[in-house]
Amino acid sequence: MAAVRFERVYKVFGSAMAVEDLSLDVPDGDFLVIVGPSGCGKTTSLRMLAGLERPSYGRIFIDSEPVNNVPAKNRDIAMVFQSYALYPHKTVRGNLDWGMRIRRESKQRIAEQVEEVAQMLGITRLLDKRPASLSGGERQRVALGRALLRDPRVFLMDEPLSNLDAALRVQMRSELIRLHSTLGTTMVYVTHDQIEAMTMGTRIAVMSDGRLQQVAPPETLYDDPVNLFVATFIGSPKMNIFDGQLSSNRSAPTIDFLGAQAPVDLRSHELVGPGDAGAKLVGVRPEDIHWNRDGTEDVRGPVVDGQVEVIEPMGSESYVTLACGDQTLVARFPARCALTRGDSVRLTIDCRQIHLFEASTGEAVLRRNSADRITAEVGSGVIDG
Ligand SMILES: Nc1ncnc2c1ncn2[C@@H]1O[C@H](COP(=O)(O)OP(=O)(O)O)[C@@H](O)[C@H]1O
Ligand SMILES: [Mg+2]
Repeated sequence: MAAVRFERVYKVFGSAMAVEDLSLDVPDGDFLVIVGPSGCGKTTSLRMLAGLERPSYGRIFIDSEPVNNVPAKNRDIAMVFQSYALYPHKTVRGNLDWGMRIRRESKQRIAEQVEEVAQMLGITRLLDKRPASLSGGERQRVALGRALLRDPRVFLMDEPLSNLDAALRVQMRSELIRLHSTLGTTMVYVTHDQIEAMTMGTRIAVMSDGRLQQVAPPETLYDDPVNLFVATFIGSPKMNIFDGQLSSNRSAPTIDFLGAQAPVDLRSHELVGPGDAGAKLVGVRPEDIHWNRDGTEDVRGPVVDGQVEVIEPMGSESYVTLACGDQTLVARFPARCALTRGDSVRLTIDCRQIHLFEASTGEAVLRRNSADRITAEVGSGVIDG
């Protein structure tokens, strides 16, 4: 097992900056998920860690040893890709034990280890089959098993589940979480899927456009995003963003948006950065917009009227798109809410859950109180993020 560290790492391809000033610590035994849209530099970061790509600048450490000059094969890292190539002419067993046979381990030890890993992954009955006769999920498990049998210091996984159908993806997700808690090996897992990231990572690194945006546990990313990108990338349906105006009263500031006014909650939050009065973007998550069905809702906050535009029943709840004046918002309503397009509803926006961003930069200007925040950020180990 090993800790991993990126120190001010850049990767330039020609004139394109694929990764820019990446500093990131992955403590020993952590399950770190790197998430971001396609092209943001996730694979490049992983490939640099694996030794398949050289950083243009900066240093990478595995267990405090600088590895920039260590070839891939000597880094003791196992990598599982999205397109996991199995040897088609070998059986599952042949695919699994190939590495151990190359290393000339004893027949007995090979048999034992293959048995153990196959059992863990539920592929024992497949050991004598060939890859062509397996389903996608079974092949994926064999690829994982092959990586596990290497017993590496670090596992790297690059979107390993994206070729699987939805049900299998969910199942493999929990198997990987279980596997990690059994093995305790450091894992760096890349995905573009924020739900996968949120459900799997002990900590999540969000990237955009080659740059690391925030590293934090899932709850912190969700509750206390550092900027508009993280706020709107994490969470589904997305956070609603409205134009707002912050008052200049620093001891009891208020925010005007959607034609209403809300106090800024300074008990659990604080204004950071310049935090001056003026144009802000107001973020409200869909679950913080409450349907004030009979006027007795105990949520405190501004009350606005909306007109139902679209209802998406999700089974356990409904996503409802509403027009509020000239702005549109999405709220989570109870299932079977018996609304139809055109209905008018009264909404209460929970003012304790409002996010504020500087309109010009997208940086958050309202953050959770520093005590909470420092705990989360020290845990994240960002050097100068
Ligand atoms: N070998 C390469 N040559 C040139 N550009 C590359 C190369 N590999 C990646 N890139 C570019 O670097 C950026 C980041 O790519 P990548 O790390 O694959 O993103 P992600 O995995 O997040 O989708 C993209 O703009 C991509 O086109
Ligand atoms: Mg990629």
